[in-house]
Formats: sequence, structure tokens, C-alpha cells
Amino acid sequence: MKNLTEHTTVQPLFQPFQLGALALSNRIVMAPMTRGFSPGGIPTEDVASYYRRRAEHDVGLIVTEGTGINHPASVSGSSIPLFYGEKALQGWEQVVKEVHTAGGKIAPQLWHVGMTRSPGDEPNTEAMPVGPSGLALTGEKVSEPLTTKEIHDLVSAYAQGAADAKRLGFDAVEIHGAHGYLIDQFIWSHTNHRTDEYGGDLKGRTRFAVEIVEACREAVGPDFPIIFRFSQWKMSDYKAKIAETPEELEEFLTPLVEAGVDIFHTSTRRFWEPEFEGSDLNLAGWTKKISGKPTIIVGSIGLNGEFTSGAGAETTSLDGLMERFQHDEFDMAAVGRSLLMDPAWAEKVRDGRADELQAYSRESLNNLY
Ligand SMILES: Cc1cc2nc3c(=O)[nH]c(=O)nc-3n(C[C@H](O)[C@H](O)[C@H](O)COP(=O)(O)O)c2cc1C
Repeated sequence: MKNLTEHTTVQPLFQPFQLGALALSNRIVMAPMTRGFSPGGIPTEDVASYYRRRAEHDVGLIVTEGTGINHPASVSGSSIPLFYGEKALQGWEQVVKEVHTAGGKIAPQLWHVGMTRSPGDEPNTEAMPVGPSGLALTGEKVSEPLTTKEIHDLVSAYAQGAADAKRLGFDAVEIHGAHGYLIDQFIWSHTNHRTDEYGGDLKGRTRFAVEIVEACREAVGPDFPIIFRFSQWKMSDYKAKIAETPEELEEFLTPLVEAGVDIFHTSTRRFWEPEFEGSDLNLAGWTKKISGKPTIIVGSIGLNGEFTSGAGAETTSLDGLMERFQHDEFDMAAVGRSLLMDPAWAEKVRDGRADELQAYSRESLNNLY
């Protein structure tokens, strides 16, 4: 890549963003990326330094890798960080300190994998996967549907996570409602066959997410930003949609806004794809237009191949991104893979050092660069 852009400047991305008490120096967000470098679920010094390096090099907001809420089946893997227990929370406190020392801002991503967990998975091998109807993403029945009491306990676990995020000094909290994990398993009709108040139509299927946001809002008070990440696509089905039309998207978003979401993080695989027929707006654009809330866009920014392909990708121009930014489709741009190998990606983009940007390769996953 010779130029970052041919026709436009990237400087608008480096303007500050302010929402209540959240003051970001620019619009670049590090996308949440599971790394699996936290043995026993405890983020190490290396993890803290990894995030600090991104803060040192001008990432405006870091969203951490998904970190498990307080439930025995929230993650699959013994090196996925947890967001409960004294040691894990101490590890996170250290991460926050390092990032703040470098002048950065950071939000943890609260995660429960739901039915994507396989029976016998670490760290709690006896814990069965849980989900709205006990169905794997393939449709196979694996466990019993969650009871109402279990659902309430899960809602409380998210709220506890949000309260801890605030207590530890994080700048915001992100709720992972995307990609076919627990919250999304409620939202998606394919995995939610319930006939009670947590199932049925889109409103019922969104209820779990809404109760989580309400409980988190109650736990953190009015001024602590809550980011909600969602996607149309699922890890098991790239063509899946929770909203087929703008009207359905409105039906989905409105109760979430009322519940207290401050920022929507719309996860797409390719940011340039129009979301609905008849308009060029992407999912972030539609979400901003409908909800009136700031949005974060993500998906192959600066790369010519999407992350779900698992392959390498070449760097590309940021023209298309800047064009959409100028049309006010989104407020922030989240970058995933490009920040895995190169902590200084944002700084290089800011300074027009296009020749120093690297192609993405799977090697990036091997270490905490
Ligand atoms: C290694 C890796 C791990 C990821 N883990 C998470 C995660 O924990 N939570 C999440 O919401 N998205 C996760 N994602 C998706 C990213 O946040 C992002 O949406 C995706 O990589 C697209 O951005 P990119 O094209 O800039 O890489 C992950 C992506 C990668 C590459």
C-alpha cells in the first residue's frame, strides 16, 4: 500500500470524542480479541503490557478481549481471562493502571459463551453449556433450557461484572451481545425456541439483553458508559440476521436504548457492506440513524480480507472508511487484526506512515506483541 488514502484525509478520525464523562483522544478503538494468554483465567503482567502498548501508541479506546462473567460455564478454555475472583480482578486492575499510566482508556468486554461451549471444556469441566433452549448453534440439543431463576442469576452476574468494571477504574463496560454467544443465542430465533417471556417474537428474544443492560445500568449509575456489541452474523452462519428490515432493527434497538445503552458497537465482517436494500448505509449507519446513539463500526478496516476467513490479508486504503465517516455513519472505528502484531498501527495511520503498515498474518496470534 502506497497511500493510506488517495482522496481524503484520516485526520477526522483523530479528533476527540466525548460522551458524558468518557473523553477519548481520538476515534480509534481496539476491537475485543480473545487471546488466551491468561493462565487460570488471570490476566498476567504480559497482558497488562500488551494493552499498555496500544494505549502508548494512540489507540483512543481499548476494548479488552472477552472476559468471563461469574458463572461456571461462561468461557471455554483455562487461559481465557475471567472477570470474577480476587486474583483475576487484581490482574485486571493492573491492566487498567498500565493503560491509564500511558494515557489510554479501556473497557472490559463481558462475555458468556453460552452453547458454543462443549461439554467437558476447561476451566470447569463438569459445567454443562447453558443457553435459552439448550441448543448448540447447529440446532442439536445438548442441555436443558435455562430456568427463569438461572436467567435471573445470569443477569445478576453481568451486573456484578459492570459494577466491578467501575470499581476497578475502567472507563466504560462493553456487553458482548454478538456473534452467536449467550446473549445472541437468546436474540436469534434459530437458538431460542422458548415460549415464555424470554422467547417468541423479537421483543421477547431481546428481553434477556434488555434486562442485562437495565441491571448493569442500575449497578453503575447514570454516568458510566455502557457499550452494547451486537451483530447480524453468527460464527456458525454468516448470512444470519436478527433484523431483516430497518423496522425490525428499530424494534430491537429501542428497548436497549431505553434500558440504558450509551454506545452501540455494530460488528460486521466488512464495514463497507450496505445493511438493507435501497440504501448504502452500513449497520453502524442504520443503528446511529435509528437509535440516535453513537456507534462504533468494525470489520476489515485497512485490510482486504475478513477475519472469519482465518487467512492472511493485505493492507488497503482507508478512503472508503473516511467517506463513510464524513457522511456521519459512525463515531468510532474499531480495528482488530491490524492491532495484533503492531501496537503502533493507530499512530502510523495518524502520521501517514503508510509504508510501515504490515499485512495481516496468522503469526500475529502466536504472541502478545
Ligand atoms: C483473534 C481474534 C479474537 C477475537 N475475539 C473476539 C472477542 O473476544 N469478542 C468479540 O466481540 N469479537 C472478537 N473478535 C472479533 C473482533 O473484535 C473484530 O470484530 C474482527 O476481528 C473484525 O475486525 P478486523 O477486520 O479489524 O480484524 C476476535 C477477532 C480475532 C481476530
